[in-house]
Amino acid sequence: MVNPVIVAIDGPSGTGKSSTSKAVAAKLGLSYLDTGAQYRAITWWMLTNGVDVNDPVAVADSAGKPAIVSGSDPAAPAITVDGLDASGPIRSQEVTAAVSAVSAVPAVRARMVELQRAAADEAPEGIVVEGRDIGTTVFPAATVKIFLTASAEARAARRSSELKGAQSVAATQAALVRRDAADSGRTTSPLAKADDAVEVDTTELSLEQVVECVVTLVEEKRATIS
Ligand code: DC
Repeated sequence: MVNPVIVAIDGPSGTGKSSTSKAVAAKLGLSYLDTGAQYRAITWWMLTNGVDVNDPVAVADSAGKPAIVSGSDPAAPAITVDGLDASGPIRSQEVTAAVSAVSAVPAVRARMVELQRAAADEAPEGIVVEGRDIGTTVFPAATVKIFLTASAEARAARRSSELKGAQSVAATQAALVRRDAADSGRTTSPLAKADDAVEVDTTELSLEQVVECVVTLVEEKRATIS
């Protein structure tokens, strides 16, 4: 029997967290959780239900209302809000622009952390969890903690190609830098590297190289605990 592992993958936007986390989970036969999608989902619910996302009291009052359910399959990540498929709408520019404000509200974070810990309890083999505060706050005792970084230029180029040219690289870079500053500067569990996280700069690395590096770290750690 192999002990369940928790792999925490944190870092700013555009560092390759999602692609890396999904590939590592698939390779190791682990569940997968995208916590950014959960923050996006609650933000989408607030926007579609007329909650003023810039009013922290209104956001906190509504934080318990939406039912957010995340799938755990890295090959087909799914997320529903009140039973509706939210995977498309949570990627809209409106949600991206509002998500930092919503995710700074402590009541929202408390609710999401509960969901995140419950997802790990339901993953018998273990789980790869990607986000901003996974190694510092959600799973401080995670088996392996990774903090991905990359230059602002590389991150903007990757995000811009995901957006398929809907926005210029310069505008994407400015928006990324703004969002990272908000996520790093908030009071409650900001984007931060845990002291015991391994930092991997992905600027010059291929996805395969990053995945290989993380898989090796997990296998080495697993060998010492099983
Ligand atoms: O990873 P992403 O870009 O989809 O995340 C969207 C936002 O959610 C990000 O700007 C900050 C917030 N977030 C957070 O505060 N904590 C997490 N663990 C994950 C995301």
